[in-house]
Amino acid sequence: MATPHFTHEDKSPDVPLSRLSKPELVALHKALLSKIRELENLVQVVSKGKYTWEATFDAITEPVMIVNKDYIVERANLATAKAGGQEITKVVGKKCFTVFAGRETPCEHCPLQKTLSKGNLAQARLTNKIYSNDFEAHAYPFHNEKGELHSAVMYYRNITEELRLRQEVIQQEKMAAIGMLAGGVAHEINNPLGGVLAFTQLLLRKVQKDPETREDLVEIEKAATRCKKIVQELLDFSRVSKDREKSLVYINELLEKVLPFIQMEIRSLNIDVHFDLVKDLPPVMAVPNRLQQVFLNLLTNACHAMPHGGKLVLSTRHNPSNNEVLVSVADTGGGIPKEMQTRIFEPFFTTKDPGKGTGLGLSISYRIVKENGGRIEVASEIKKGTTFTVRFPVAN
Ligand SMILES: Nc1ncnc2c1ncn2[C@@H]1O[C@H](COP(=O)(O)OP(=O)(O)OP(=O)(O)O)[C@@H](O)[C@H]1O
Ligand SMILES: [Mg+2]
Repeated sequence: MATPHFTHEDKSPDVPLSRLSKPELVALHKALLSKIRELENLVQVVSKGKYTWEATFDAITEPVMIVNKDYIVERANLATAKAGGQEITKVVGKKCFTVFAGRETPCEHCPLQKTLSKGNLAQARLTNKIYSNDFEAHAYPFHNEKGELHSAVMYYRNITEELRLRQEVIQQEKMAAIGMLAGGVAHEINNPLGGVLAFTQLLLRKVQKDPETREDLVEIEKAATRCKKIVQELLDFSRVSKDREKSLVYINELLEKVLPFIQMEIRSLNIDVHFDLVKDLPPVMAVPNRLQQVFLNLLTNACHAMPHGGKLVLSTRHNPSNNEVLVSVADTGGGIPKEMQTRIFEPFFTTKDPGKGTGLGLSISYRIVKENGGRIEVASEIKKGTTFTVRFPVAN
């Protein structure tokens, strides 16, 4: 009888096992063992490949997913689940716009269908409703093993911070330009205005006995005094603090100094003031008078936002992770509409009645905070209130 010969391609020997001799059985056993080892290796390679692919996918800190033409997520990395505030196990099989952006319908400008119809990369800017983050979405065509195109790899880059910084640079450039212009104009107006005021006061002394002329002159004096105040504010706005004016400022103490200036308003408007000041707040490096002006502006605005009373909370914090001091002024006033929130820092932007506000308070504050190395932010909800947060780096 011929000895059965086993190779890797063999499926099974065509001779019943009972008819095999001992050496043939040993050979068969060896061949089977080697086949098993080979399969084991293959399984290992596949599972290593699977692990490497998953780990690579998850190592990407931006959301990446494979989405089919019906917007169903076929694969997703951990960052996708995080961006949508979901558990990774609950992401696959769901609509991408639900898990990722908290929407009921596809995101506006979603590049998925464009990629599937054109077969090349498409990009768009999307907003994640859950965290109000802005993303740049990239859709890459994903062909299956048959070469068909039914899905796309979606990659999202979080550009929220980038947009904020860009906005800040624009704001800063705008402020610098306006600062120069306003400073120049204010400087020119300051002297003649001083003359108008001085001569009005002289005339006032001369016309003691003429009540009608006196009344007119008093009006001129009032108007000129108001102009002088605005001119002074403009000069302040365009002024840049020098480093040598800076000193260590303890914000908790500074807030206590500012409050008496606004005490009248607080009492007359029936406002409850609460303090939430952290003890041992580290100092910041700034020009004390200028910083005082910032908080006075913020407190005044908060009071004006609560004409029928409300709650004013002043709080300070220290964030050791980035070594920043945070100061916030929160009110329970009417709030600021979203579309207005970027405009409030612009010079002369005001919603107050003519003669009540010049719209310079926040723009001056913005400039002062910036020149002291800080940042000012606003969070507001209509009918609930507004919180202004100012951050400064802790002094070295
Ligand atoms: N806490 C707040 N709540 C609601 N609206 C606010 C608040 N703070 C500022 N605003 C809005 O921002 C605008 C600009 O504020 P800003 O302090 O620059 O000028 P103003 O208060 O109008 O005038 P002033 O020059 O007298 O300060 C305000 O007119 C108001 O509409
Ligand atoms: Mg103001």
